Amino acid sequence: MAYWFENPVLKALVPLALSSAMKGLNTVIKVPTIYAGFNVLPEGPVIGPSTMGSIAPRCPRKRAFIVTDSFNEANAKRVSSFLESNGFSAIIWPKTIPEVPMRNALECGAAMRDFEPDLIAAVGGGSVMDMAKAAWILYERPDISDLAIISPLDPLNLRQKAILVAIPTTSGTGSECTGAAVLTDEEAHRKVPIANLELIPDVAILCPEFTVSMPPQLTAGTGLDVLAHAMDAVTTPASNEFTEPLALKAIEMVFKWLPVAYRDGEDREARHRMMLAATLAGIAFGMSGCHLTHSLGHALGSVFKVHHGLAVGFFIPHTLQFCSQVTDRHLLICRSLGLPAPDPASGLSNLVRSVGDLLQALGVSGDLRGFGIGEEEFRNNLPTLARYAHEDVDSYFCPRPPTKEQCERIFLYAYYGKDIDF
Ligand SMILES: [Fe+2]
Repeated sequence: MAYWFENPVLKALVPLALSSAMKGLNTVIKVPTIYAGFNVLPEGPVIGPSTMGSIAPRCPRKRAFIVTDSFNEANAKRVSSFLESNGFSAIIWPKTIPEVPMRNALECGAAMRDFEPDLIAAVGGGSVMDMAKAAWILYERPDISDLAIISPLDPLNLRQKAILVAIPTTSGTGSECTGAAVLTDEEAHRKVPIANLELIPDVAILCPEFTVSMPPQLTAGTGLDVLAHAMDAVTTPASNEFTEPLALKAIEMVFKWLPVAYRDGEDREARHRMMLAATLAGIAFGMSGCHLTHSLGHALGSVFKVHHGLAVGFFIPHTLQFCSQVTDRHLLICRSLGLPAPDPASGLSNLVRSVGDLLQALGVSGDLRGFGIGEEEFRNNLPTLARYAHEDVDSYFCPRPPTKEQCERIFLYAYYGKDIDF
């Protein structure tokens, strides 16, 4: 299969388009209309702004296709009755498979074409939102059959048939505010990221009640995904004056509220704050990209089936250390967290220690052995891990794009729990 990110012209153009000089010529700031809080899905009369006010005028046929998975059927039913109480006819498609294999996206796209909705609602975590975006493309553009070739520069001309509403049930991916979707090419065991500004949902509905039932390990994993997005969004050269404060605020909120939500999932305030943090980080990295945490984490996840958030969160310290050779932007994070940073090196070690303490508090191992990966299995897969991380599109956004050899060394250091010193 041909992937858009292997095209050498695009490989050269995408980082150029994100350089601060080019962004100075034309920075695009695109966010959905966001509703957040405990009364965002009211079924009775509403005084003041209401979620439906942003949806109904754009959906004259009132046909809603709700994409979800088997874990979120109850939440999807809640959304369905909200829509039905406002005159929609709705169907629930609950067949999203985690990590969204391509054939699963084709199946969803075909069901969508049969129903002909003018509203697509994604109710679930990252995979469900990724699925809704992929199926939306297939529904709007029946001429596209290979999603892997769509590049950020291709006009898709979406919204001729339907709008997209994202209703996350985890606080992690930020996909409700990004134009990114990650699918899986099962034959090649590869993650296939699709990125296009047109994929940014029209409306994001943040209902913290949906996240209360997340078990502690999922709370930790999704919360660490937020932290990885935000940390990378600060340190990437593609950050700008809009993304930086959002990412810094998200980092501050994760340090404060993630341990609370992890210890007590019923803590409504912590759930609410984590949902906001995920969205803040989503807007930030959606505009500026995330980098090495995700290149390394995607590779680990592809080869050893580690949860996305745990994988990318694990690599935050290594990423900070590796990038500190070329940037001192981690000092911004130290300042925002109130960590002493009399010089870049001390700031780095204080920040890495704080992230390490957080990982430990969330029960995440400090080395890859703790993920249950045997030494022989790890060594056998090391070249593949390094190749995947090196080729990952997120490496484009890294302040210090690693070579394949450097990726291999980082994985080796990570396996044995060593600090990155090169
Ligand atoms: Fe992520």
